[in-house]
Amino acid sequence: MKEAPIDTSKYLCPYCATTFDTLDRLKAHVVAEHTTEPLARPEGLIKLTINGQIYELRVEPNWTLFHLIHDKLGLTGVKMFCDRGACGSCTVIMDGRPILSCMTLAIECDGKSIETSEGIAAAKHPLIESYVKHHAMQCGYCTPGFVVTAKALLDKNPNPTEEEIREALSGNLCRCGTYPQHPKAVLEAAQEVATHPEVK
Ligand code: FES
Ligand code: FES
Repeated sequence: MKEAPIDTSKYLCPYCATTFDTLDRLKAHVVAEHTTEPLARPEGLIKLTINGQIYELRVEPNWTLFHLIHDKLGLTGVKMFCDRGACGSCTVIMDGRPILSCMTLAIECDGKSIETSEGIAAAKHPLIESYVKHHAMQCGYCTPGFVVTAKALLDKNPNPTEEEIREALSGNLCRCGTYPQHPKAVLEAAQEVATHPEVK
């Protein structure tokens, strides 16, 4: 069966799928009918915490969290390989969970707490040393994404098995083929965290 062509002259509400003839009518509808949704927020103002620092920022509705963190705030530890949720290099921790910053809109991060590789390094987390010790990198481009994902794992499960580490890191891709080194580095960091539980 032939599908009906998409009418590109209409503006579609992302929350209820109502269509409007103009962008202004769509905006007025969102502000009036979807008051708690991010796009209804006046002028894209958000407040969030990144690596313990509070930011109040004005963001465009189409900005990704990656764009905000990397391009606007200059936290360049977060990396961009694929820009489509397939490689894990843009991973950050949001409210305790590893998420892909290339697939997350900045405006949806109001009130969130975010941790990047810069925060992990500044806290001198044992993962940094163990990644160096075990040479778990070659070009290093994917490394921050692995470290951030591993940190989220250790926060949740301080004593993971090798299998659990492989599973947790399975969404992170490395072109240089450093895969065998990551479980070794994470296991050693886990031992270090067990010895020094004050390290977070
Ligand atoms: S850059 Fe985000 S998943 Fe690849
Ligand atoms: S170390 Fe080069 S992509 Fe992973």
